[in-house]
Amino acid sequence: MTAGTGDLAAASLAQRSLAAVWHPCTQMQRAASVPPLAIVRGEGAWLFDDAGRRYFDTSSSWWVNLFGHADARLNAALKDQLDTLAHVMLAGCTHRPAVELAERLSALTGGVLGHCFFASDGASAVEIALKMSFHHWRNRGRLAKREFVCLRRGYHGETLGALAVTDVAVFRDAYDPLLMRSHQVMSPDARQALPGESSLDVALRAAAELQALFAARHEHIAALILEPLVQGATGMAMHDPAYLRAARALCTQYDVLLIADEIAVGCGRTGTFFAFEQAALPGQPHIWPDLVCLSKGISGGYLPLSLVLSSEQIYASFLDDDVARGFLHSHSYTGNALACRAALAVLDRFAQDGVLARNRERAAGLTAALAPLRLDARIEHFRHIGMIWAFDVREPFAGPRFAERFHLAGRARELLIRPIGPTVYLMPPYLLDDTLSPWLAERVLATLDDVLSHAPNDPDAYRPPEPPTA
Ligand SMILES: Cc1ncc(COP(=O)(O)O)c(C=O)c1O
Repeated sequence: MTAGTGDLAAASLAQRSLAAVWHPCTQMQRAASVPPLAIVRGEGAWLFDDAGRRYFDTSSSWWVNLFGHADARLNAALKDQLDTLAHVMLAGCTHRPAVELAERLSALTGGVLGHCFFASDGASAVEIALKMSFHHWRNRGRLAKREFVCLRRGYHGETLGALAVTDVAVFRDAYDPLLMRSHQVMSPDARQALPGESSLDVALRAAAELQALFAARHEHIAALILEPLVQGATGMAMHDPAYLRAARALCTQYDVLLIADEIAVGCGRTGTFFAFEQAALPGQPHIWPDLVCLSKGISGGYLPLSLVLSSEQIYASFLDDDVARGFLHSHSYTGNALACRAALAVLDRFAQDGVLARNRERAAGLTAALAPLRLDARIEHFRHIGMIWAFDVREPFAGPRFAERFHLAGRARELLIRPIGPTVYLMPPYLLDDTLSPWLAERVLATLDDVLSHAPNDPDAYRPPEPPTA
């Protein structure tokens, strides 16, 4: 395909999309200024548009794609499953991929979270965990326990229940009148450290606030929900694992269920399969939440799948002759066989490829390549955990519509990158190597220099150059 015809095709697909597709997380009035990339193909960490240009998928397509696009092993597993069974309802029926997936996830928690309830998107898993928590206490005669606690600036999805425990204004405010009330407690975000304070001090300060709330309201509180180690959608806010230890201890002390939303941070993203594994002190036995929500990476970026893992104690509270005491929640595609098979292929990769150990090497390479950022006076709070890197551009440098300008400048350098406000982050597929890491770091730094060297006062004046055609 020549660049000329490719340009036309790209333009027309983008235009058709703007006319017919209501894009998510997008102010459509502005969408024409940032037309969607018309992606026709993916291969490894790369996405290709219909003009033949390539883009490095720096955020793993909204944090779902762990092993790259068109991965041969995931493709083979799915093709095999497609010829066997695509889907069957999970009420009254079961199938091998769902059973094996539930068994293998349970085993990864040492059998502590041995009951797997399937859904499709992340937000539906959060809804399930909230409903399950309330219903658990109700089944045990604790009818007053119907309130939820969440962390300030946390994010758990955008359905009404999930939004009620989300504190990101841009997603929440318009719907606030519709939402059930939740308690929001101090986030342990380490960036809030006062002079002389460590991230541990911040975590302990946040835990003290949680304790005060529990002491006053625990008779009414069903569950605490949190994103372990990294509050993603608010801008990759990271915290000390001591907060998780404290939250676990307080939930046990005050009879409050602990929901770990591992939708973004699970599946190895923070360096352990479950982020919550890092709550235990080194050498000490694992401690676990009561409920874990998983989605995104679990199906490798191929198909929508989410699930809630629950403890025996919670599961047992639903067993009764009375149907209504059961958990009568369902979605049509619950436990979809293709999605479960993709997830099994993902777990195979973890079991066979030493993914977590290889990621430690990969992370060291990119961290080293990004080292100049630590000395850059234009940015603050450079942070990293596992396969997540983030930094904040200081306010006077960022200027209006920084994220959009950075995104467009990134496109010109073969990056698909979407900052969150002034926070630039990388959550790449688990494919970095000695070639890709320096390349990625060099492109991020060049994009930053480009964007910050143009006056931010008139964001419309700057148009980045077209990216090269492959
Ligand atoms: C921590 C967390 N919880 C829940 C969700 C919602 O998942 P979904 O977008 O699949 O509904 C997200 C999505 O980004 C998330 O990051």
